[in-house]
Amino acid sequence: MSDLRDPPDAVPRCGRWRAATAFAIALALAAVAAISAGPPGPVVTEPSIAVSPEQVRRIRAMGWPGAPPPDPTNRWADSDAAAALGQALFFDRGLSSNGAVSCATCHRPDRGFSDGLRVAVGVGTGPRRTMTVLDSAHQSWLGWDGRADSLWSQALQPIERDIELGSSRRSALARVSGNPLLRQRWQAAFGEPLQLSEGASADEVDAAFAMLGKAIAAYERRLVTGPSAFDRWVATWKQSGAPAALQPDEHMSPSALRGLVLFSGRAGCWQCHGGPMLSDGEFHALGAPGRPERGGGVSSDPGRYGGVDVLKSSPFTAARAHSDAPSGAKAKIVQSLVRVPDHFGAMRTPSLRHAGLGGPFFHEGQFDTLEDVVRFYSTLEGAQSLDHHQEQVLVRLDLSAGESSDLVAFLRSASGSAPATSWTSDPWSVPPPAPERPANADKSE
Ligand code: HEC
Ligand code: HEC
Repeated sequence: MSDLRDPPDAVPRCGRWRAATAFAIALALAAVAAISAGPPGPVVTEPSIAVSPEQVRRIRAMGWPGAPPPDPTNRWADSDAAAALGQALFFDRGLSSNGAVSCATCHRPDRGFSDGLRVAVGVGTGPRRTMTVLDSAHQSWLGWDGRADSLWSQALQPIERDIELGSSRRSALARVSGNPLLRQRWQAAFGEPLQLSEGASADEVDAAFAMLGKAIAAYERRLVTGPSAFDRWVATWKQSGAPAALQPDEHMSPSALRGLVLFSGRAGCWQCHGGPMLSDGEFHALGAPGRPERGGGVSSDPGRYGGVDVLKSSPFTAARAHSDAPSGAKAKIVQSLVRVPDHFGAMRTPSLRHAGLGGPFFHEGQFDTLEDVVRFYSTLEGAQSLDHHQEQVLVRLDLSAGESSDLVAFLRSASGSAPATSWTSDPWSVPPPAPERPANADKSE
């Protein structure tokens, strides 16, 4: 007994607490060292992190979404031939008013189908950051403000918007019928040539324009990311019964795992970035400060408030004649949409499945890095009061430096990238024979 209490090398009684404390600290340090080393392979010795049953439920809901849901409003959504036409259209500068801009100018395959700029630059310069096209087939409302209700109706907007391709319906269709590659792919996709007379009615033009959009959408449905490191971890965790004690593995470092625990718990991120897309698909006004060069004040962007107007006035919604399911479920939702003042300044919660592919972030590219984004949520520095529009769920988190870097580690683990397939390459990079090459489609840079 006395041996146990007073081992030969024991320090005097008053120092035993110190020794015990030192031992505990040493243990803790060893654990921290093991954690930050993050060795690959099975890590059985890692301490697990216990989470609540609610968190288990939230994390279960965050796994990989799989293939995009069907789109009954587009009967060519899953046609490879339509996607091949869409791919040629997506990379075609000949669709733009100045012959210099294609969808891929802003949605660059080498930049995660965005452009790395704060705000988009096409034929003109836009007020918002380019969103990625990756996984957009999972979205119910497209654009920061949800201005389109389908991928195909979205695809038609940039063709006509003056900051993007700055063209027109008739010019875009004339480009298709005047170009051999596009003409041939149109015929292959739809089984008939594009024939539009000079005197075609506005409705005939819209019908053909809708088909063009549906081909681009069929293409975009192929631009999906594979499972991320986080998704792989979730799959293994679910296979072992989704225990409340979370273990790091070769996919999730202890830091990323601690970030997940914050994300799905105290930091409250899950409230808007939950579910398989790490987004609720809804619109929120966060009151984030505007870009410094614009004075940093609250952005005057009307967000969803304006988006609903654009959507309702479009001839290409799920509920209109050019939809392939004008009385389907989506059409009913669109018909019941109303513009509410609370939506002023609200933006669609971005999916965090691409956050690791590079910034800048937020709708005006206000934040350059993920660290900057997390600092905003932590301090709410510069946040603008939007009166009754202000989102009530954002509370200052006062994260420690360690917690902030854990959250960033989690965000990186949750990002997937587009697999390099033939769908991500430019079909125009092999130029068609010289005589048939239109002067305004020169791809050389
Ligand atoms: C000038 C750069 C630019 C060009 C060119 C451009 N886009 Fe975009 N794209 C943007 C911006 C900016 C947004 C966000 C739009 C908004 O909210 O107002 C966006 C949004 C999108 C989205 C929505 C993604 C989502 O998750 O909601 C899709 C899809 C898309 N673009 C496809 C296209 C297609 C197809 C083309 C060519 C026909 C195209 N874009 C041309 C800049 C561009
Ligand atoms: C109230 C809903 C809400 C909550 C809670 C929330 N977010 Fe967001 N998040 C959004 C919205 C909306 C945006 C886009 C805001 C904008 O562009 O003005 C956004 C943007 C982001 C972005 C930038 C993505 C991009 O592509 O630009 C990241 C990263 C992010 N949030 C991470 C987090 C993290 C981490 C937390 C928890 C600390 C969190 N969010 C909590 C709604 C929310």
